[in-house]
Amino acid sequence: MIYNSRSLSKPFEDIDMEILRTAVAFNAAHDVTGFLHRSAQHYYQYLEGPSHHIDALLDRIAKDTRHTEFHLLQSGNTDQRRFGSWSMGYSRIARAAQTALLTPDSSGHEVSQVLHQEALRQQADAPSEDPA
Ligand SMILES: Cc1cc2nc3c(=O)[nH]c(=O)nc-3n(C[C@H](O)[C@H](O)[C@H](O)COP(=O)(O)O)c2cc1C
Repeated sequence: MIYNSRSLSKPFEDIDMEILRTAVAFNAAHDVTGFLHRSAQHYYQYLEGPSHHIDALLDRIAKDTRHTEFHLLQSGNTDQRRFGSWSMGYSRIARAAQTALLTPDSSGHEVSQVLHQEALRQQADAPSEDPA
């Protein structure tokens, strides 16, 4: 599932680090994976895993006061994980990708493609110490 929201803090500062600490601990323990993309004023998060965990997590995230204007862009089952090796990846999103995401008529599927490309770019920039 994918949502976007408006952030209330700056990228790469304490609030995001707190969110990531919580996310990595919970997600790793509950078979949830995904990616949190950050622009100056927005979050775009992709989450995948067992639906009962995702549904409950989504409720908690939607109510979180560290962001606002929560919009669910896509939900449903997928046959394959896109971010199997990330408990919660995090990166600043490139401006070009952000422009594509903010096009009002882009579908959930298109948003998912753009986010996946961004995550792969991030992975290429910072190769894992333990490549599969
Ligand atoms: C943008 C954003 C992304 C988040 N992503 C996750 C996540 O992937 N996993 C997670 O456990 N919590 C995540 N959180 C934190 C949850 O909103 C919530 O604080 C956490 O699940 C603990 O909930 P509780 O305080 O009700 O126990 C995120 C919060 C924000 C604002």
